[in-house]
Amino acid sequence: MSILAAAALGGITGAAGAQGDTVKIGVILPMTGPSASTGKQIDAAIKLWIAQNGNKAGGKRVEVIVKDDAGVADTTRRLAQELVVNDKVVALAGFGLTPLALATAPIATQSKTPMVVMAAATSSITEASPFITRTSFTLPQVTLGLADWAAKNKIKKVVSLVTDYGPGNDAEKYFAERFTLDGGSVLEKLRTPLRGADFAPVLQKVRDLSPDALFVFLPSGQGATFMKQFAERGLDKAGIKLIATGDVTDDDQLNDMGDVALGIVTSHHYSASHDSPANKKFVAAFEAANKFRPNFMAVAGYDGMRLIYTGLNGSKGQGGEALMNAMKGQIFESPRGPVLIDAQTREIVQDIYTRKVERVNGQLYNVEFDVQKAVKDPAKNRK
Ligand code: DHB
Repeated sequence: MSILAAAALGGITGAAGAQGDTVKIGVILPMTGPSASTGKQIDAAIKLWIAQNGNKAGGKRVEVIVKDDAGVADTTRRLAQELVVNDKVVALAGFGLTPLALATAPIATQSKTPMVVMAAATSSITEASPFITRTSFTLPQVTLGLADWAAKNKIKKVVSLVTDYGPGNDAEKYFAERFTLDGGSVLEKLRTPLRGADFAPVLQKVRDLSPDALFVFLPSGQGATFMKQFAERGLDKAGIKLIATGDVTDDDQLNDMGDVALGIVTSHHYSASHDSPANKKFVAAFEAANKFRPNFMAVAGYDGMRLIYTGLNGSKGQGGEALMNAMKGQIFESPRGPVLIDAQTREIVQDIYTRKVERVNGQLYNVEFDVQKAVKDPAKNRK
């Protein structure tokens, strides 16, 4: 049954949301499958938020329901529908990959259920429904600074390599546009599939093209395999510099990549080594609870919970438009640094850091060495 048919029959609307003294938050994550590390990180961060902040918001008891979509869009859509119609959730959250967020957008719109995207990062997602907001990032947002850094650091010829779907398209396009404006040239734009990527053929191509640098975007979870093949093909020894979005030197995998990762320059919105009291506290509590390091997915899950809790406080526990409006314009100090939810675009505005992989106390970290303050998603700014 479609969600509209269900609503007509039962008089159900997602906007009802708050039922009595309890509000439910429906979290859909890839807990299994190729993106399981995203689910693991966000789930752990949500649990940490609740352990630290309790289970009350907006005068109601908060219940979080976590569902596993295994990274399959049809499953995400079905689970979202069930959470809205049967569980009457006040908000949907999670969304490990772009296709999963886009598959759910019509449900958010039809049922007026706020949807907090904690992982997916294609720019257009927040335009797919007026009920979508985001605590992760966008690829255009984190890519422009890296193109500028490359052009200023004697890199003239680049080959780009991205995963062939939404965020990869964004990264490829925004890197090439900016780097070309900066006077550089992109020799070739290579792509690998989202599922079952084999990097050997493209890496051979990169070797043959012999650029000054290879620019890479891959979704969280693929970085370690890529780095292994990069080293096996001897690209590090061939003098081809690797530059990437921080998804590649993901804190979830970075420490296991070994010396081949040393010196890689990336740009992103979060590093576990970000030097602030708020982050030190977050990382210490997260590691104590989980025995693994938080990555950029975890911080977005944690901040997403803050956004929903503060929103519920503002809406006095109501869902629908009241909750959506209360989430717009929020400003807070995240473990990543200061963030704002832009009231017009519902998009996150945040500091973007340029970082280099270094060994610190025996562990590999993305050490931040430069920052652009309060970066908006450039894809929306120019419209
Ligand atoms: C997306 C997923 C990721 O794991 C990531 O690091 C960036 C973007 C996405 O599907 O939008």
